Amino acid sequence: MAILSSSVLLPFFLLSALASASPRPETRAVSDASLTDVSTAFSKAGIVPGLVPVFNPTGLLDVVFTDGTTQKAVNATPGTNLTMQQTADEPKFVLTVSNTTTASTAEFVIALVDPDAPTPQNTSLGQFRHFLGAGYRWSADTGVLTNSTAAPTEWFSPAPPAGSDPHRYLVLAYVQPDDFASKVSSILNATTPRTNFNVTAFSNTLGLGAPFAGTFFITGPDSTPTSSAPSSAASSGASASASATPQGSGATALHSQLTVTGAFAAIMAMYFLK
Ligand SMILES: *[C@@H]1O[C@H](CO)[C@@H](O)[C@H](O)[C@H]1NC(C)=O
Ligand SMILES: *[C@@H]1O[C@H](CO)[C@@H](O)[C@H](O)[C@H]1NC(C)=O
Ligand SMILES: *[C@@H]1O[C@H](CO)[C@@H](O)[C@H](O)[C@H]1NC(C)=O
Ligand SMILES: *[C@@H]1O[C@H](CO)[C@@H](O)[C@H](O)[C@H]1NC(C)=O
Ligand SMILES: *[C@@H]1O[C@H](CO)[C@@H](O)[C@H](O)[C@H]1NC(C)=O
Ligand SMILES: *[C@@H]1O[C@H](CO)[C@@H](O)[C@H](O)[C@H]1NC(C)=O
Repeated sequence: MAILSSSVLLPFFLLSALASASPRPETRAVSDASLTDVSTAFSKAGIVPGLVPVFNPTGLLDVVFTDGTTQKAVNATPGTNLTMQQTADEPKFVLTVSNTTTASTAEFVIALVDPDAPTPQNTSLGQFRHFLGAGYRWSADTGVLTNSTAAPTEWFSPAPPAGSDPHRYLVLAYVQPDDFASKVSSILNATTPRTNFNVTAFSNTLGLGAPFAGTFFITGPDSTPTSSAPSSAASSGASASASATPQGSGATALHSQLTVTGAFAAIMAMYFLK
């Protein structure tokens, strides 16, 4: 019975731990200066004009990860260094605007690409499309963007190969045109290679216009591989950017498994207690 009750409670403990990792970063004021800071960071990092011809954002975009170990929210602002562990799971996106007109009515497309694949010196696989989400609607209360439709490209964790210099991960939010959903499936789907993507060409083709907001973070290969990882994983990491299993899928699978186990145990308990 003790074992049964802990199986029942464990998923709820995990869920509450996830819920307590609040996605809300400290509120940042949107001013011309803060928007200019983001543009300047994009230019300094070579994102403008190399990857995006011009970038004059209307809003501030925060990318909020939840560290899988500490369950703490990790907020990426332009140029933040993050570890692979911190970026393993799909983040939340938070938009801050001063003029709420567009944000309150629009849907948004969010793209996250790595131009530095497999390494910043050899970008023959770049841009690597880590994520393409659509149908995001903005909450005026929390600033959180929540998707109302499935992602055209599911989340794939950053996986810079062992020995690589840190990669830039570029995140852009665009106002979504009405015909996006009907057009995007003719351009890419779940089987389209993630390599050699071009976010600017994509946005031109689908008429997304200039990015509404954006940010980027920097992630290098883990310098200290975890003891649970076989040593061959580090040495075979040269092709990791294209082929590695997404980080965190194990944790997600474990979490689902525990939830299913807990739900089953709860049903069994109800049956026996009836
Ligand atoms: C990020 O890490 C690099 C070394 O890889 C370091 O030179 C740089 O100062 C760090 N940036 C920040 C903002 O901590
Ligand atoms: C807010 O944005 C909307 C849409 O771009 C624009 O029409 C309106 O003039 C803006 N309002 C102010 C006060 O700037
Ligand atoms: C660049 O990376 C690709 C993909 O990993 C590899 O096939 C190619 O040999 C590399 N080129 C150089 C010059 O290292
Ligand atoms: C939102 O995205 C998540 C993760 O990609 C997905 O599991 C979920 O089904 C999406 N929501 C809707 C309403 O499609
Ligand atoms: C995905 O796109 C490819 C071409 O890019 C096409 O051959 C394939 O049929 C598409 N798959 C689906 C499920 O639409
Ligand atoms: C990406 O697409 C843009 C717009 O079509 C183009 O100007 C640029 O050269 C492309 N970049 C690469 C690396 O092909």
